[in-house]
Amino acid sequence: MVDRNSMGRAVQRHRTERRQDDDARFLKSWLKNPLRMGAVTPSGPALARKMASYVDPAGTGPVVELGPGTGPMTTALVARGIDPARLVLVEYSAEFCRLLRERFPTATIVQGDAYSLPKTLAGKLNVPADAVVSGLPLMTRPEPVRLQLLDDALGLMRPGAPFIQFTYSVVSPVPLKGANFSAEPSERVWRNIPPARVWVYRRGS
Ligand SMILES: C[S@@+](CC[C@H](N)C(=O)[O-])C[C@H]1O[C@@H](n2cnc3c(N)ncnc32)[C@H](O)[C@@H]1O
Repeated sequence: MVDRNSMGRAVQRHRTERRQDDDARFLKSWLKNPLRMGAVTPSGPALARKMASYVDPAGTGPVVELGPGTGPMTTALVARGIDPARLVLVEYSAEFCRLLRERFPTATIVQGDAYSLPKTLAGKLNVPADAVVSGLPLMTRPEPVRLQLLDDALGLMRPGAPFIQFTYSVVSPVPLKGANFSAEPSERVWRNIPPARVWVYRRGS
C-alpha cells in the first residue's frame, strides 16, 4: 500500500529530477549558441506566473508563445487555465520541440524562426491571436529587428491584445521613441534568477 506521504515524496522527487534535466538541456543549448538562448537556465515559476497572468484564460483564440524552450511559461499558461489546444509554440530548437510535443501533446508546435513570424505562422492561425507571449532574448538582436518582431506580432492579434515580453534589462526591450503602441512594465520579479521585469505592449482596442 502506498501512503500519501510517500506519494507526495515521489511527486516531489519527479519534479526535482525534471527540473535538473531541464537545467542540463538548457545549459547544453546555451553552450552551443549563447546568443540564441540568452540565459543559462530556464525561467523560474514566479516569472512564468507573472507572464501568464496577462493572458485571459476565458478567451477562445490562439495564444502564441515564442521561444518556449523547455516550457516553463507554457506550464504557467496551462496552470492559469489556458486550454493547451489554444497554444501555438514557435521554437527554433529541434530538441526543445520534441520535448514540448511530449509535454503538451494537444498544442501546435512549430519548429521555426520567430523573427520571420508571417512566414513561420503562415496558415497556422485561423483567427487573430488573443496574446503573444515571448521568451525570446530580444536584447541580443538589433533594434530594427525587435521593432519588426513586435509589429509582426501585433499584426497577428486582435486589437488591444497583449504582446508579453520579459527582460533582465532595466529599459524596455523594444525602443519606445515614436512608438505607435502602448507599453506597460511590471514591477521587478525579484524571485527570478536573475531578477526580471515583464513588459506588455498593445495596439488599438
Ligand atoms: C531565454 S530562452 C527562454 C526559454 C523559456 N521561454 C524560458 O523562459 O525558460 C530563449 C528561447 O528562445 C528560443 N529561440 C531563440 N531564437 C529563436 C528564434 N529565432 N525562433 C524561435 N525560437 C528561438 C531558444 O531556443 C530558447 O528556447
